[in-house]
Amino acid sequence: MTLMPWERELAPIAERLRVGARTTVLTGAGVSTGSGVPPFRGDEGLWRRYRPETLATPAACQRDPGLGWDWYDWRRQLVAGCEPNRAHAVLAAWTRHDPTMRLITQNVDGLHERAGSERVIRFHGSLWEVGCWDRCPSSPARWSDLTVPFPVLPPTCRYCGGLLRPGVVWFGEGIDPTVLADSEAATACELFLTIGTSALVYPAAGLVARARERGAFTVEINPDETPVSDHVDLVLRGTAEAILDAIEPHSAAR
Ligand code: OAD
Repeated sequence: MTLMPWERELAPIAERLRVGARTTVLTGAGVSTGSGVPPFRGDEGLWRRYRPETLATPAACQRDPGLGWDWYDWRRQLVAGCEPNRAHAVLAAWTRHDPTMRLITQNVDGLHERAGSERVIRFHGSLWEVGCWDRCPSSPARWSDLTVPFPVLPPTCRYCGGLLRPGVVWFGEGIDPTVLADSEAATACELFLTIGTSALVYPAAGLVARARERGAFTVEINPDETPVSDHVDLVLRGTAEAILDAIEPHSAAR
């Protein structure tokens, strides 16, 4: 059998993946590419085909809500047709068996939850939540809406009839303070895995450095180099689905 270079490196991670060992995982779009969800960057990335400033900013969606919602409705349809992959399944098993494990995701696709992950910290919100654009007084801040596709675009607020907005964080918007606080707390861990993220978008990209500063053993899982590759304790070059699948049988967090 030919050993992939990373296969020799699994033992130090598997040993650390004990129940109660306080592991934190940060995921990005690369975890969902194996399910057919396009990433944001790279040759197949969404931002190659669409400009973020025309689709994912409050100003853009206010200027042309139909265009903005067309894009979100298309992404909701695409994700609705995808299934969680092996990477989602392994992470879900770990979160279920180890209540000290924290899973922070930048993904808005909901695939971690569909795989059964518990206590997911959704750093950039969710495609499957919506809110009233005008924050009308009768509406909650966000609510779940699984309609696919929306019969009419742009969809309207069920409380006031005004415009709806997707429950995602747009460029130029802040991260929910509770989410930020939970994520900062999760950097106090023994093992921190950064998986399938280009580590370009802050503040999420800063979490791995924070964890390392606080004494965590840090690992990157990604087929490609990123700005954090030189600043983690171990890099495993490969796909999330292959590497997590290989770690799982050795891990004690089962
Ligand atoms: P990106 O598209 O920027 O990066 C995806 C990363 O996944 C890249 O580094 C790829 O090399 C890697 N990758 C691809 N396939 C993989 C696989 N099978 N296994 C593991 N890694 C793989 O996505 P993010 O880093 O998630 O923000 O992007 C961060 C944020 O930028 C997103 O949350 C979004 C975007 O703008 C907002 O919408 C606010």
